[in-house]
Amino acid sequence: MDKLLITGGHPLNGVVRIGGAKNSALKLMAASLLADGRTVLENVPRIADCSTMVEVLEHLGAAVRWDDGTVDIDTSGVHSQEAPYELVQRMRASIIVLGPLLARYGRATVAMPGGCNIGSRKIDLHTRGLERMGVTFEHEHGYLKATGQLRGAVVSLDFPSVGATENLMMAAVGARGTTVIENAAREPEIADLADFLSEMGARIEGAGTTTIEVEGVDSFSPVRHRVIPDRVESGTFAIAVCAAGGDVLLRDARSDHLDLPLSKLGEAGAELHDEPDGIRIRMEGRPRAVDFVTLPFPGFPTDLQPQMMAMLSVARGTSIATENVFESRFMFVDELNRMGADIRTEGHHAVIRGVERLSGAPVRALDIRAGAAMAIAALAAEGVTEIADVYHVDRGYQDFEAKLSALGAEVRREQERSPAYT
Ligand code: UD1
Repeated sequence: MDKLLITGGHPLNGVVRIGGAKNSALKLMAASLLADGRTVLENVPRIADCSTMVEVLEHLGAAVRWDDGTVDIDTSGVHSQEAPYELVQRMRASIIVLGPLLARYGRATVAMPGGCNIGSRKIDLHTRGLERMGVTFEHEHGYLKATGQLRGAVVSLDFPSVGATENLMMAAVGARGTTVIENAAREPEIADLADFLSEMGARIEGAGTTTIEVEGVDSFSPVRHRVIPDRVESGTFAIAVCAAGGDVLLRDARSDHLDLPLSKLGEAGAELHDEPDGIRIRMEGRPRAVDFVTLPFPGFPTDLQPQMMAMLSVARGTSIATENVFESRFMFVDELNRMGADIRTEGHHAVIRGVERLSGAPVRALDIRAGAAMAIAALAAEGVTEIADVYHVDRGYQDFEAKLSALGAEVRREQERSPAYT
């Protein structure tokens, strides 16, 4: 397993190209199962999670070709409706094939995902919603077996879950009658999925708002579609500039997907400009403390919470962060504190007392975003930080260290010599 070695103290300058959104690409790949034939997706990031989704599709019988950022999925050979444990365990988002498989074949079997490093992550909202649409579930040997002819229903979600909204939307497009999803998630990736499904022939209204109405149709045509830019990657680099200082153009980043995080970075002292080809961020000196609260979109994204905490650990003053989306998303705090950060957590609140300087130390990436947070802390730290378990970062960021190096950071990747005992 690889580790990253980052020597802090270098500002970031230049241009970084933001890739396609992981959390959109994965769902669009799954949605391709609805149509018979060849779907082409452009701007798919070359990251481990997308490779896992390719494996899921291949396991089902699809033929997939991936050249550069373009993924070509031919579903004509699909013969299985089962997402196996080995793949679901590697990537929980594999369960997103449930909706499209049910819509197309009236049955699907997915391994039950276990817990992960940010909480227990139930799937009750997915299953309860599908049950309202006529699906029956059976639990067998760690697998969830779903069968049933989908029919339209009114489904009101207890929480605007991104995955549940997507699974229900993909089931509803092929159901008999009209489905209304109330308290739906409003993330930009939901709107991208709805656009893609509509291009395929689906009839959807209200995606991107709290109420989505879907009228089921009988068939879908395969189409070509370009994935939206990754707002979490954009936010990660913006926060990195805020922590390390410098002047960077985030090429292809969309500020309308990042309103709140960008305004928080503005409060922290960054200068931000919308350019024709992206967002430019400039930062001088230490950031100022800011408070923030994670919430479903358009709130502050939980997927930028660890990176923001890393940046605020070197801010002037004390910040308070509140995590409302995932129950255990502060586990990386101990790693930051190993670098000299002064963060205390109490339930879902964290108090971050800014210190003047962090000091490089061996730390671990606990998940994708916590790994990015460690890199941000490392950029602002004195000396060398060794980030172990960097495979987590590779799940979500394409060419992470190459992009940081091109901006002037001192980063290199090394093979880990000895296994980690935990
Ligand atoms: C997606 C994103 C993830 C992001 C998250 C929130 C992908 C692949 N992942 O995850 O990066 O952090 O949205 O923006 O797109 N919940 C339940 N029951 C359910 C479903 C969810 O209780 O059936 C809870 C979860 O435990 C969590 C909260 O709802 O506490 C939010 O989860 P959800 O919005 O579903 O996130 P994901 O779709 O898993």
